[in-house]
Amino acid sequence: MNNKILTKARIFESEQEKNITDKQRPLFHLTPRVGWMNDPNGFCFYNGKYHLFYQYHPYSCFWGPMHWGHAISSDLIHWDLLPAALAPDSKNDKEGCFSGCALETEDGNLALIYTGVHKNKKDKNKNLQIQCLAIGDGINFKKERKPVIDDSQVPFGCSIEDFRDPKVVQNDNGDFILYAVNRNADGNGQVLAYKSKNLRDWEFCNVVLKNYFGLGRMWECPDLFYLDGKAVLMMSAQEVLQSDNFDSGNIGVCLIGQYDEHEHKFIKQKIQQVDRGLDFYAQQTIMSPDGRRIMIGWLQNWDICNYREKGARWFGQMSIPREIKIKDGVLIQQPVREIESYRQNKQEINGLKLENEKCPVPQMNGTSLDITVTVKKYDTDLSYFYINLFEKDGHYARVYYDYKFEKAGIDRSRAGLKAALLHERSCSYKIKEGEELKLRIITDRNSVEVFWGEGELAMSMSIYDEEKGSGLSFGISGRAEINAVSYEIKGDRNE
Ligand code: FRU
Repeated sequence: MNNKILTKARIFESEQEKNITDKQRPLFHLTPRVGWMNDPNGFCFYNGKYHLFYQYHPYSCFWGPMHWGHAISSDLIHWDLLPAALAPDSKNDKEGCFSGCALETEDGNLALIYTGVHKNKKDKNKNLQIQCLAIGDGINFKKERKPVIDDSQVPFGCSIEDFRDPKVVQNDNGDFILYAVNRNADGNGQVLAYKSKNLRDWEFCNVVLKNYFGLGRMWECPDLFYLDGKAVLMMSAQEVLQSDNFDSGNIGVCLIGQYDEHEHKFIKQKIQQVDRGLDFYAQQTIMSPDGRRIMIGWLQNWDICNYREKGARWFGQMSIPREIKIKDGVLIQQPVREIESYRQNKQEINGLKLENEKCPVPQMNGTSLDITVTVKKYDTDLSYFYINLFEKDGHYARVYYDYKFEKAGIDRSRAGLKAALLHERSCSYKIKEGEELKLRIITDRNSVEVFWGEGELAMSMSIYDEEKGSGLSFGISGRAEINAVSYEIKGDRNE
């Protein structure tokens, strides 16, 4: 190990972060200290705090040799940025410390289990991915020399170049089970399970699930847990072909079913895209000390993450942590309840009747908001509802519902971004019989996250516009009555 590489990163980030003012970051969404952030890693609760690590390249706002950045929080809303935890400084991970997980060891240390990427000695044009262990006190970590799972433990014929993103859980017998993704000989993704008693010696168990159903090609970032009586396997899929239920490209996926703990086989019953917006990937979950399953994802999308604001010194952000549930075979998401204690300046609108008009609501203006809206149809003439957010001089981000085609949508095409990226997504969403359209929206300077109904549909998008407005307005084609409650989110980056 060459500590110089980590020391250099730590010095660099502590100097460079001074050039980023609080105003240049979201108020409560986690961003890197400086440079680039992708996947959440090592999400855990350790020594009384939530720890979140992340894929990190401090030296530019683009992906590069992967480090692990680090942040802690007592409530999942306010994050303190800590020194980088890992750097690509050992022979196992010279090409990068890729995604992984964290868990507390028996003697009270924190173990990081991550993918080390290095050149394949037999073919220098190719990389090998192996699983590595580093142990520390929650700030400083010592890497073990020996990888814990290397290429010799990949099932015969499967890829040794695509073998990554370990997630370790402990089962009721005290055994550790490690889930990692891999590419089968036919090029498709699969999730593998390994078993260990001590985090160091691992035995291959089985292929938990293989991509026999053609959901993209390679899979990434697996997670397996039980929730509301169901087994849930989450992963993120690459190269997905668009269909009614899935968007194209890179998407977070939730499979609901059963898990055979002896055979280590997952039996899929339902499958759902985690978030139908533009930007959400590589989610990880944990169990909070009070028994909630909490998920956090990277609020970006690989295919559309090359745009930077002028002079940007950071890029990439995390979603708001979300409480998840399974109800009637559907994944339900809501922002963690901790956000409620950051609410201030409550504003209410009751029974606002609108007819073919756009109605600015200046009392609800803001750039970091928690808004709940219900739209009541009071006769049959209602075809389209929208909320414009971050509005200024004709620029805005939009959340909408199309009653005719029963589609929910988000749109940043007029948000003032100076690049023609994929800017809009919509998907089929039916309002339940006898119910009204209800949605909760969280905005935070550089993002919009929408939770429809009870949270059975989530749609998120990041926004890197140069002219941030704060206006909010409602718009209706036809007639409807609007009820809304909004709060500003307070934070220490308000000033
Ligand atoms: C997912 C991913 C992981 C990998 C990491 C590299 O976004 O591609 O599979 O470990 O990012 O930064």
